[in-house]
Amino acid sequence: MEVNVVLIGFMGAGKSTVGRRLAERMSRPFVDLDAVIEETAGMSIPEIFAAEGEEGFRRREADAVARVSAECGQVIAAGGGTVMQRRNLARLRATGVLVWLRGRLDTVLARAQSESNGHRPLLAKPRAELERLYAERERVYALADHIVDVDDKTPDQVAAEIEAVLRGSDRPQAVVVNVPLPGRSYDIFVGQGLLADAGRLCVGAGVSGKGLLVTNATVGGLYGGALQRSLSLAGLRVPRVDVPDGEQYKTLDTVVRIYRAAVSYRLDRRSFFLALGGGMTGDLAGFAAATFLRGVDFVQVPTTLLAQVDAAVGGKVGVNLDEGKNLVGAFHQPRIVIADVDTLQSLPTRALAAGLAEVVKYGMTADPHLLDFLEDRMEQLLARDRAALMRVVARSCEIKASVVAQDERETLGVREGLNFGHTIGHALEAALSYSTLLHGEAVAIGMLAAAMLSARLTGLAASEVERLAALLQRAGLPLAPPAVDPDQLLTIMRRDKKVLADRLRFVLLERTGRWVVRDDVPDELVLDVLREQRSIWAATAKN
Ligand SMILES: NC(=O)c1ccc[n+]([C@@H]2O[C@H](COP(=O)([O-])OP(=O)(O)OC[C@H]3O[C@@H](n4cnc5c(N)ncnc54)[C@H](O)[C@@H]3O)[C@@H](O)[C@H]2O)c1
Ligand SMILES: [Zn+2]
Repeated sequence: MEVNVVLIGFMGAGKSTVGRRLAERMSRPFVDLDAVIEETAGMSIPEIFAAEGEEGFRRREADAVARVSAECGQVIAAGGGTVMQRRNLARLRATGVLVWLRGRLDTVLARAQSESNGHRPLLAKPRAELERLYAERERVYALADHIVDVDDKTPDQVAAEIEAVLRGSDRPQAVVVNVPLPGRSYDIFVGQGLLADAGRLCVGAGVSGKGLLVTNATVGGLYGGALQRSLSLAGLRVPRVDVPDGEQYKTLDTVVRIYRAAVSYRLDRRSFFLALGGGMTGDLAGFAAATFLRGVDFVQVPTTLLAQVDAAVGGKVGVNLDEGKNLVGAFHQPRIVIADVDTLQSLPTRALAAGLAEVVKYGMTADPHLLDFLEDRMEQLLARDRAALMRVVARSCEIKASVVAQDERETLGVREGLNFGHTIGHALEAALSYSTLLHGEAVAIGMLAAAMLSARLTGLAASEVERLAALLQRAGLPLAPPAVDPDQLLTIMRRDKKVLADRLRFVLLERTGRWVVRDDVPDELVLDVLREQRSIWAATAKN
C-alpha cells in the first residue's frame, strides 16, 4: 500500500499549488481537502461558514478527512486548521506521511493576501492574533514527518524538494535547537548522518585545538572511528580514552583515569573533552571537563535515546558515590550537542523504550501534542524510523532547553517538572540496587504512580491515567512496581537529595501538560497507589 502524502501548514504556505505539482511529478491523484468539502456541501467555504458556522465547517471537514484518509496513494492538501483537531490528525497520520510546508509568517501572509479573493476570513484578524494562532499551530505542524521550507522558493522547487525528501535521497536533514543561556548559549543538532559532519559542526561552535574523546569499548567500537575521522578532517586532533561500560563505573576513580589520559596527551586550558556514548559517559566526561584545569570546553555526542532527549542537555554532570547516585557534580554546559539518530539503530530495545519513557514525561508535563505523536507513531519509533526519532528527539530537546533556560541551576522550581515520575522511580531503582530496572523503566512505573496520585489529589481525569498506561505499555515499558519493602521505599525517598525539609515532593498533574508540586502526600496514599498499581498491572511486572 502506498501511503498518502499529506501537506500541512498555514494558509498561504502553498499547499494546493505545491500539492498539484507534486501529484503530477509522482503520478498520483491530487486531493484538495477544501475542494472535497465544498463539493460535498454544494456550497463554497464562506457559504458554509455563513450557514453553519465554524462548527458546521469542522464537522464537514472531519467527514472529508475520514473519507479521504480511507484511500491511499494520494497527495492531499489539508486545510490550515485541519490537523488542529486531534481526530483528523490521527486519521491523516494513520495512512499518510505528513509534510509541513514551513514558511515565515510574513511570507505566508503575503502569499495568502495575493491569492485571496474574499475566501480567507483569517486575514481580517489583527496581527497579534495571527501571531498567536501561528505559534499555536506551529507546535502541531512541527511534529510532521518531514519539514520543507517554502520561503523564497517556487512551488516547483518545493515540490521537487518534497519528492527528494520522500525518496530519502535528500541530504540528511537536521534540526537545530538552541539552548539560550546568557553568555554561553549553544546549539543541539538533531539529525541523521551527523557523525560524519561532527568536525565541521564542532569548529562552527568555536571548539578548537586538542581534544580528548571519552567513550567506552562498545560505543567507541561502533562509532569512534567515524567520529575521529570527521574531527581530524576538520583539523581537530582527538585521541580516545575508553572508560569501562556500566553505571557502577560512574565514579571519581574513573574520572581520575580521564584526567590522567588528558595529562598524558598534554591537554591544556584551551582543550576540550568530547563525550561519545550514553548518559553515563556524558555525565562522567562532563564532570571531568568541569574540573580539569578548573574547567575546559565540552562536546556531547549522545548515542542513547535517553542521553539525546535528556542527559546531554542542560549541563548537569556528575558521578555516583557508594552512598547514592549523582551525589557529586557540577553545572557545566556543553559547547555543542550532536545527536545523530543513526546511532540509535544499534541501541538495545530495552534501552530504546527506556528513553521513550522520558519522552512520555515531556509529553505529560509540557506538551500534549507530543503524546499525540507518540500515540500515532509508536510503531515507527520502535522500528527506529529515523524521521520519527528525529521529531521526538528534537521536540524533547526543545522542551528541556526551554526549561533549562528559565532555571539553569534548578533554583526557581521551573526545572522541577522534569522530575515527574522520578520520586518513586529513583526509589525503586535504589531499592533494587540499580540491577533490575533501567532508569527509564523505573520512571515509567513512577509516572503511572504519580498519575494515579494525581487522579486522587489534583483532579487528573481517570481517562488520562489510562491513556498514559496504554502508551507506556505500547512502548514495552513495565507498569507495575516489583515487590519491594514499602518501608524501605519510603526511607529511600526521604534520603533523596531533592527532599527539602524532610517532606517528600511529588510532581503531580492537574491535567496533561500542567504540573504542580505537592509536598503533602501522605505516605499511606503512596503505598496504597503502589499496591493498587501492582494489582492492576501485575502481569507486566518484571519480577
Ligand atoms: N545529566 C543529566 O541531566 C542526566 C539526566 C538523565 C540521566 N542521566 C544519567 O544518565 C545515565 C543513564 O544514561 P543511559 O541510559 O544512556 O545509560 P548508559 O550511558 O549507561 O548507556 C546504556 C548502555 O547502552 C550502551 N550504548 C550506548 N549507546 C549505544 C548505542 N548507540 N548502541 C549500542 N549500545 C549503546 C552503553 O555502552 C551502555 O551499556 C545515568 O548515569 C544517569 O544518572 C543524567
Ligand atoms: Zn530521568
